[in-house]
Amino acid sequence: MKIVQIASEVAPLAKTGGLADVAGSLSTALAGLGIETTVFMPQYRTVIEKCEEVVPVMMEPLKLKLGNQAREARLVRTSLPGTDVRVYLVRSDPFFYRDGYYVDPTSGRDYGDNCERFAFFCQAALSAVEALDLEPDIIHSHDWQTGLVPLYLKTLHAGRAGLGRGKSVFTIHNMAYQGKFPQECMDFLGVGREYYNWKQLESYGELCLLKGGLVFADGLTTVSPTYARQIQTQEFGRGLDGVMRERSGDLRGIINGLDDAEWNPDGDPHLPARFSARNLSGKRKCKERLQKEMALFPSAGTPIIGMVGRMVEQKGFDLLLQCVDDLMTMDLQLVVLGGGDERWLADAFAAKANSFRGRFSFYYGFDEGFAHRIYAGSDALLVPSRFEPCGLTQLCAMRYATIPIVHRTGGLADTVTDYSPELLTAGKCNGFCFDGFDKSAFLGAVRRALDIYKDSRSWQRMAEICATKDVSWNRSATEYKALYEELLKR
Ligand code: ADP
Ligand code: GLC
Repeated sequence: MKIVQIASEVAPLAKTGGLADVAGSLSTALAGLGIETTVFMPQYRTVIEKCEEVVPVMMEPLKLKLGNQAREARLVRTSLPGTDVRVYLVRSDPFFYRDGYYVDPTSGRDYGDNCERFAFFCQAALSAVEALDLEPDIIHSHDWQTGLVPLYLKTLHAGRAGLGRGKSVFTIHNMAYQGKFPQECMDFLGVGREYYNWKQLESYGELCLLKGGLVFADGLTTVSPTYARQIQTQEFGRGLDGVMRERSGDLRGIINGLDDAEWNPDGDPHLPARFSARNLSGKRKCKERLQKEMALFPSAGTPIIGMVGRMVEQKGFDLLLQCVDDLMTMDLQLVVLGGGDERWLADAFAAKANSFRGRFSFYYGFDEGFAHRIYAGSDALLVPSRFEPCGLTQLCAMRYATIPIVHRTGGLADTVTDYSPELLTAGKCNGFCFDGFDKSAFLGAVRRALDIYKDSRSWQRMAEICATKDVSWNRSATEYKALYEELLKR
């Protein structure tokens, strides 16, 4: 079987969040199942420096038309670092040679030409598949940036040579990002205005690129079974729940996995000491180093609770902020790493951290190594998300024997089983869950966790359960493969 993956970010070459992790690690896992996998992504300014080797391909640029504008795309071939998985970078300096991927870091605003940029990327990727004669069985695209791929396969690129059987799969990583633009942007798409209607590309008076994927893909997936159910409801569907209900027969929820090599406490270059599920002793050293690095009081017996994420509405940083004063009355230390563009929230966290020096540390930015050290050095990890399609940080935490404390929603509900003494004896619980997105539920879960922490044998047992849980792609990649096979039989 031959698969093409098309995504706007692919780790480790470009990453703002879990989409990149998944696009990269799922591709590697599929290749491991013997599926010939080729990846397409844009060549942003900082990509080349992260590639092991780059080879220009095709002397002549691909010639495309975006509305009335003629555009050119060049292609560069590389591979996912440390693997044989082929990656083609779509190069267009006017569109992608910038400091941000979607947002201008100086203004904090989305680039004004995002619709054009990603319509261009989708067309360029498909034209490249044709020109390279890749003949894929499945073309799998992800999120709003590549929502036009399934539409183009049924319109502009229908029946073209080189596209193989070209069945499309579209994965929704987050219903909150829909790629919505003014109707006038239809002019860039290259398909007729007739597609701008409520059954196809229009949603509440705007052009919606995500909807292109939802309506036109042959198969749909999202990243957990619970979120697959949730997005069919008004509460989580963000205005697209009707479409999701209509397509529910074609929608599957498949839990994300982690890249075993990237997230491995026994071989992680970011850590001061290595450890494994069988021998957790190195974790103590990681905790000690984290306290030092973050200017927390050195104290082996005080539990460190960490949190890592983009500082956006979804992740519940605001809920944590409301709870900081209460948390600081408890015997714990708090370490928070937050990235993203919500400066006001970051300022509020920085101010709080300043008033609880030595017990609460906050770092604003995106720092891969630091994230690894928080997963490894903390005792527990907070994931108080309002909603969470899958969530990777709870999986990273578990891999590093750190116990997650989560809001029971989406993929968090599917991956974390709440503590009870009976389940612990049976080896079946791996965290603390709270229902209801509010302060008392959140603090209740933290208090329950602290109670168990005092009983070090139970805590240790639960940490072992976390560390031995299979959070790799083993099962989920097979589910994707089965879906691809099923679509090909149709
Ligand atoms: P989302 O994709 O919604 O941001 P996920 O939990 O699926 O959330 O994935 C987040 C990924 O990004 C994880 O790999 C996490 O370690 C990483 N990450 C998030 N915030 C930061 C940060 N500030 N610094 C470094 N890595 C981060
Ligand atoms: C999204 C979601 C997150 C998920 C990630 C990868 O960004 O917010 O829950 O884990 O995509 O699928």
